[in-house]
Parts: sequence; C-alpha cells; structure tokens
Amino acid sequence: MKLSAGIGILGCGTVGSSVADRLQRERAAIESRSGVRYELRAIAVRDEAKVRATSLGRELFTTDAGSVIDDPQIDVVIECIGGTADATELVERALDRGRHVVTANKDLLATQGPRLAAIAASRGVTLRYEAAVGGAIPIVRSLDDALAGDEVRAIAGVFNGTCTSVLSAMEDGANYADALLRAQRLGYAEADPSNDVEGHDAAHKLALLVQLAFNLAVLSPRIRRSGITAITRRDIARARMLGLRIRLIAAAVRTPDGVQADVAPLLVPGDHSFAKTRGAENVARVIARDAGALELRGAGAGGPATASAVLGDVVTTLRAIGERHDLSHRGRDRALQPALEVAPLFDALPRHPDLAHLAIWEDDAGTIDLSKHRVHAARGHRVDKRSQGACPQV
Ligand code: NAP
Ligand code: HSE
Repeated sequence: MKLSAGIGILGCGTVGSSVADRLQRERAAIESRSGVRYELRAIAVRDEAKVRATSLGRELFTTDAGSVIDDPQIDVVIECIGGTADATELVERALDRGRHVVTANKDLLATQGPRLAAIAASRGVTLRYEAAVGGAIPIVRSLDDALAGDEVRAIAGVFNGTCTSVLSAMEDGANYADALLRAQRLGYAEADPSNDVEGHDAAHKLALLVQLAFNLAVLSPRIRRSGITAITRRDIARARMLGLRIRLIAAAVRTPDGVQADVAPLLVPGDHSFAKTRGAENVARVIARDAGALELRGAGAGGPATASAVLGDVVTTLRAIGERHDLSHRGRDRALQPALEVAPLFDALPRHPDLAHLAIWEDDAGTIDLSKHRVHAARGHRVDKRSQGACPQV
C-alpha cells in the first residue's frame, strides 16, 4: 500500500489558493479521511512576484508549470488555472505522465472531456471534476455514482453564480455594471466575465451534465445559449410586478435521438426554487425514471465552496492511491454515445405579452418532447394529458 503521495497545484487564484491553504491547514483531517500522507510539493503560477493573501511559503511557487507535472514525486495534479489556452496542454501532459488530475475547469472538460478521459483511462489514472459544475453541490458524483443504476431523463437548474449574483443585485436596485464588478470582486466570475454573462459557462456545465446524465458525447458548442447582457432593470421590475423573477436557466431533456438543451435567461415564477436563488447559489433539479425528482442546492461559486469540492476529489484520489485501486476501469466516458440530435428546448415555452422577449419556465418543460414518446409511469412523474402517458417533470 502506498502511504504517501505528492501533490502539485497549477494556479493559485480564487480556487487554487483556497485549495492550497486547506491542504496545508487541514492536513491531519485530510490524511485521516484518505488514509494517505501527502506532501504539497509545488504550486505553479503565472506571476511569481504577485502578492498573495496566503500563508504558503514562497519556496513552493514556480512559474514553470511543466516542472510541477514532470516532478516524478508528484502523483496528483490539481489544475486551477482555468480556460483552455494553457490548461489543455498541461492537463494532457499530466495525464500522459501518469498523474491523477483533479480540476475545476468546465471550459476544458466541456470541449475536450471525452478525449482527456480516454487518455486518463489509457494511463490508468483518474480525472475528477466535481467542482466544475455547481461549486460545492455534489451533482457530478450524484449523476456518476448515486444515480448510475437509474435512468436520468431530464436535468435543469441555475448553474452560474455570477449571473444570479448580478440579477439578484439588480432586483435590489444595483445597476448591471456595479453588480458585475461585485461578482468579480467576490471571486465568482471567470477571468473573462463575458464567459459568465453570455451563457458560455452555463453551457459548458450543461454539456458536462448531459455527458454524465445521459451518457451522450455532447460538447458545449452544440448547445444553444444566450446570456443576461440584454436584461434591463425595467425587465426585472416588470417581471417582479408579474410575480416572476429572471434567472439564467440551463436545462436538458433526453430524447430518442439525442437531447433537447438550452441555456437562456427565463422568467421564473417567484415561488419556484430556481427563482429563490440569490448571490452565487446554484440549484440542480434531476428527474430520473425511478428516483423521481431530486433537487440539490448550495454555494455554486467562490473560493472556499469550490475548494470543498476539489478537496473531496483529492481525498477520493488519495484513497484510491492508498488502496492501489486499478483506476483504469473508470473509463465510463470512453463509452459515451454520439448524440445524433442536439435540439433547442425552450422554444415551446409560453411567453407573457409584457415581456415577450423572455420565455417563462415551466416545470414540465421536459414534456415538450418526451410527450411525443411513450414514457412509462414512475414515481415523481405526472400524467401528461396530451399524450395519455406519464412524463417526467423537469
Ligand atoms: P483565477 O482566480 O483567475 O486564478 C487562475 C490562476 O491560474 C492564477 O493564480 C494564475 O496565476 C494562474 N495561471 C494562469 N495561467 C497560468 C500558467 N500558464 N501557468 C501557471 N499558472 C497560471 O481563477 P479561479 O477563479 O481560481 O478559477 C480557476 C478554475 O476554477 C477555472 O477553471 C474556473 O472556471 C474554475 N472554477 C472557479 C470557481 C470560482 O468560484 N472562482 C468555481 C468553480 C470553478 P497568477 O496568480 O500569477 O496570475
Ligand atoms: N464563474 C462561475 C460562476 C464559477 O459564476 O458560476 C463557478 O463555476
């Protein structure tokens, strides 16, 4: 049994610094839970001279990310750089060298996840990414493990903390620019916040959820998306008068040929759980054949919340190293099926004449397409009068 492991971190910003601090401060608890001792050997950053609000020793820092990956004493690489510019090559190199990788990078996974998962499987190492969707919410494991024996039919929710933070601040009277600046200061926004407010980040997350939930090889560019940049304070005020709130919703429904999926700002009834999100809060609603409707909610962004998910993946990886698990069986992603069709989902939703540019979310959005097909009745499903069959509510 291997009782010690070396860890390297790439990136020490909002997420990386929180992960590194906790690896140092909570060593006893993490080693006890994983059963493996570890050494944090190096942290790669872009600018070594930058002042960092962390108690980590300067000797840990390097600007040479390649040297961290190539260090033969490092077993686990935690990628917290973000984007695809540098992270793609670095993660690929880490997997290729036989390092286990933990990452929070949805841009990378939603565009290249199946390829990277295949490299990981071929090297017998793991690629874990709980933090990439929903921050602290354990939605990746829920789909990949807990619901692996069921058949997930639909998934929907609020998956971008920056957008919710901006929209809920505008509800309180803030203007768009100030609200976005605040979300950036709180560490919620991506390095380029247009990723958040234009819906790319939510589309990346939805693609990952589709891969996990439906076993379909759908990459994010195939998903139609729009963002919140055109939402005005007048829209928000008018929506409130109608008992509605505006939230960026991401949703996908399994169809016989693939999937219907969309990311867009929608009007949501004020008493709906999606509408009740504020700040960086996320909600994930899953409809499975036997489990019925499940909902998870919690902190979707921010350093400590995201670090919680990253460290959960680190503990799982250390446990596997300690137990010398054969990790090559985790090649589930290699078996992803092609999705013949990735069609829009929100076109059939109703609209209100006063805010006709925004559709209104309905929990039975999943019936839009499934109602055309026979879906067997199951717990948590309602009878759809249009089809005389039972359809899952999203
Ligand atoms: P961030 O604050 O911008 O930090 C990025 C870090 O990467 C910085 O420390 C930067 O170095 C370093 N870096 C950039 N290029 C590098 C290179 N070529 N070599 C070495 N280091 C490099 O980003 P973040 O908010 O922590 O996000 C990191 C990842 O977590 C992203 O994939 C993001 O989508 C994901 N995520 C973030 C959150 C959140 O709430 N922030 C939540 C979930 C997931 P310098 O410090 O020297 O500039
Ligand atoms: N930029 C992302 C958000 C971070 O605002 O939700 C969490 O993935």
